[in-house]
Amino acid sequence: MPFSFDVEESVVRHPASAKWSMFAEDVLPLWVADMDFPVAPPIVEALRRRLDLGLGYSPFEGEKTLVDALTARHGVAREGLMLLPGVVSGLYASVRTFASPGEEVMSHVPIYPPFMSAIRDTDRAPILVPLVEGANRYEIDFDAMQASVTPATRLLMLCNPHNPTGRTWTREELERVAEFALRHRLWVVSDELHADLTLDGGFVAFASLAAEVAARTVTLTGPCKAFNTAGLGIGAAVSSNAALIARMKKVAAGTGHPSALAQTMWHAAITEGEPWLRDVLNVLRARRDFLADLVRARLPEARFLAPQATYLAWLDLRALNLPTTAGAFLLERAKVALNDGPTFGPSYEGFARLNFATSEAVLAEAIERIVRAIRS
Ligand SMILES: Cc1ncc(COP(=O)(O)O)c(C=O)c1O
Repeated sequence: MPFSFDVEESVVRHPASAKWSMFAEDVLPLWVADMDFPVAPPIVEALRRRLDLGLGYSPFEGEKTLVDALTARHGVAREGLMLLPGVVSGLYASVRTFASPGEEVMSHVPIYPPFMSAIRDTDRAPILVPLVEGANRYEIDFDAMQASVTPATRLLMLCNPHNPTGRTWTREELERVAEFALRHRLWVVSDELHADLTLDGGFVAFASLAAEVAARTVTLTGPCKAFNTAGLGIGAAVSSNAALIARMKKVAAGTGHPSALAQTMWHAAITEGEPWLRDVLNVLRARRDFLADLVRARLPEARFLAPQATYLAWLDLRALNLPTTAGAFLLERAKVALNDGPTFGPSYEGFARLNFATSEAVLAEAIERIVRAIRS
């Protein structure tokens, strides 16, 4: 493999890293969704070259090479694309655009926490529909969606692939979601930030299902999960329905633009990042399988449905009957920082999300610490 995916604690643990500086030195951090691997060399090279061009404003509508690459990739017109300082900005802007205060916004839970804060912080009403556990994967509960939708529901927020369960929704599942959205005349925002991190194939873009679905959908995308560049903040909202993007632009006016370096980074990721991405996916598949074997052998009480995408494992630790939330217990007693279940929705006290984009050594140490804390 030409690229290095080594993890040296002396390199990754520094004060500029939220992941490695949030907790005390004796804590192993497997929480926030950054990978512990170095940035792809072609991206680093492109950033170096960009610095020679100075750091004045880049074109206000986005650098042409990036805009062209993104519109081609998503098959949308220039007017159907809006660059964002990050994908979370797009979640907030879409909630503000497609529902008025007091109106309802539906999301599945568990869910990446800013889905819920985007609804609550803007005084919209959340309708949170729990996923259900199937034989070997989490599934959408269509009956529950039907039972909770009301005439005041305006927007459906979809996470595809899904954080934290790592589900890549199948075409059949997405078609049922689309049919539901059309039937209830909902707008859909589909956060597809993890699309390039599909480990087993099968990713289907929601807006690709049909023209009438695309016309009601805004897709959010960005490079930061697949290319490990979250510190450079950038994302985009795209839609075949340019009127939706025009509305979002008005709502998001004044909230800032992505930096010149972020635009260079994303363009390099699209045009030169493929070989690195292929390799990192191989590493992540191996880490997922390593973790699954380890959990099965050392922590059989934990339920762990292997993710089909992302580098996140949604651990169900309810069988351990821990005295506090799973995340709080493991932080205090095992000195391992995971994302605590309740941040992903109500009644997930016994769950925690583990980020496995690190070395086998770190994963093995984390699981041993957890086993020791539980057995002591
Ligand atoms: C589904 C999802 N959306 C958005 C984000 C954050 O995106 P950004 O950092 O571009 O705001 C994350 C980060 O993990 C995520 O998992």
